[in-house]
Amino acid sequence: MSILLIGGSRRKDSLNTKVKHRIAEVADKYGIHYKLLDADALDAPIYHGDYEAAEGVPESMQTLAREIKAASKVVLISPEYNSSVSPLIKNAIDWVSRVESQAWQNKKVLLGAASPGGLGGIRGLMHLRDILGNVQAWTAPNFAICPNANDETIANMDESFLKSFLEQGD
Ligand code: FNR
Repeated sequence: MSILLIGGSRRKDSLNTKVKHRIAEVADKYGIHYKLLDADALDAPIYHGDYEAAEGVPESMQTLAREIKAASKVVLISPEYNSSVSPLIKNAIDWVSRVESQAWQNKKVLLGAASPGGLGGIRGLMHLRDILGNVQAWTAPNFAICPNANDETIANMDESFLKSFLEQGD
């Protein structure tokens, strides 16, 4: 089983995607198995009940639920929008919670964020932790945050901290 690394921004030059890759780099160094998921894998219509009644859960979200179910842990790196979570991640959490396998239940989830701002997106992660608690995921106590994020600060994210971040829940 490996750790599923998911970024919550589809923007081409996304800082959060860069943090995801920085974490992958540290995992490579320490022989920690992982699978990178492109943020496009989170793409789905905004949840609404009529859509679900007519079409069922989108194939992309059923695939995502299978990936989550198969992972030892999930790392979610979410941008902060207006002090809250990436809508891409929130929508995916909602859809996956509609898949019968209940992939979030008891899943170990590790959270991170990057922002050009000084708080690094931590306020969004507080919301994300609440949402994940609602679908009965286990969320790790330590966040991987990159405040004042740019290529340099992301490259300098502390390696030993990121290693211990990834080991949470072992
Ligand atoms: C932001 N941004 C932002 N940043 C932050 O630290 N706290 C916030 O509340 C917000 N709010 C916010 C709202 C909206 C609508 C946008 C578009 C942006 C800035 C955001 O963190 C920044 O654009 C990141 O670079 C987005 O993440 P990616 O795409 O680089 O991964």
